[in-house]
Amino acid sequence: MHQMIAPTPPMGWNSWNTFYDQINEELVFEIADAMCELGLNALGYEYIIIDDCWQSRMRDVEGRLVADPEKFPHGMKYVADYVHEKGLKIGIYSCCGTRTCANYPGSFEHEFTDAKTFAQWGIDYLKYDNCHRPESLRTPELYHRMSMALRNSGRNILLAACQWGRDDVHRWIRSSGAHTFRSSIDITDSWNSIANIAWAQLENQAYNGPGCFNDMDMLVVGMHGISINPETNMGGCTDTEYQTHFALWCMMNSPLIIGCDIRQMSPETRKILCNKNLIAINQDPEVRGCYKVDVFQNPDAFILIRPLSGGDYAVGFFNFSDVAADISLHFWDMGLSYHSGVALSFYDCIEDEDLGVVEELLTKKVEAHGCKVFRCTIVEK
Ligand code: GLA
Repeated sequence: MHQMIAPTPPMGWNSWNTFYDQINEELVFEIADAMCELGLNALGYEYIIIDDCWQSRMRDVEGRLVADPEKFPHGMKYVADYVHEKGLKIGIYSCCGTRTCANYPGSFEHEFTDAKTFAQWGIDYLKYDNCHRPESLRTPELYHRMSMALRNSGRNILLAACQWGRDDVHRWIRSSGAHTFRSSIDITDSWNSIANIAWAQLENQAYNGPGCFNDMDMLVVGMHGISINPETNMGGCTDTEYQTHFALWCMMNSPLIIGCDIRQMSPETRKILCNKNLIAINQDPEVRGCYKVDVFQNPDAFILIRPLSGGDYAVGFFNFSDVAADISLHFWDMGLSYHSGVALSFYDCIEDEDLGVVEELLTKKVEAHGCKVFRCTIVEK
């Protein structure tokens, strides 16, 4: 039977944020090894995605894309085989324009050839970018094209559309056949970038669903300003900010694509990325979007609430201000009136701690740029 691609948000690792154009076969092998040794694969991180700069500057005489022979001396099929042997999946990158963003050959007018090539190599995921695109063509046509080419390639290949949220992408992308869609300009390793993306995408929650997800861009968790990518490296964030970043991406159904060097993760970074409670929210099979509840007299704080399969609710308290704040959830704001006869039992997903049953109101102090995420079960009073 045909297996559905991306029933829940895809999870994996991508080379761009940290390694930029400094990618090669050994790096990919070491990352694949680390994914398994650190147990990231068991948590659901399965795609190893090679971003831009893997290509040769020219196509071959048959018009096919070729891997850079210095970076990938054995070719891409060899790399894909290694990754598959580890039980992981492999992703690659191309662009709907004539050139990629880093000026390598793009797939414009080569879509069907390239999709076939990727299928022959054993590729499972294609990130498809938006640079050097003929201005006379709208993006929907170009993404429809590659989607059809992949669907005709003979292999299940996830299409990760990356056109930065242009042309109201959320309105048409699901019907293109793509599985994820970038909705913002590139994330940078800074709190402002994280906060801006999250604010902007709160109103697009209804467009997530099995088979097609709003990609809020790759995670910067754990990068701490050590990227060699000058476009991404904005000095880094605190662990509190990275924790909030991860919690937002989980609550908001974003793909979870790690961007740090997992071979050198700090214990704090590993704890953030490996939080089973938050991953379970991100991967919840019902794939509901969350809704926002305002915090009284505090425009820099908000609460996100999301129904989960099995009757539980995920509840996130987020404080975007520069000072600590008390955040209160009045249960009537999520539909529980005083007279309902029921209360909520809270589990703190970050502290991994049962908080017991609470009636009517929960107030928590949340540090600056921090968050709290709870899993709630409805119980009789
Ligand atoms: C664009 C994308 C990035 C990255 C680079 C590669 O900027 O949005 O995520 O893939 O191109 O050149």
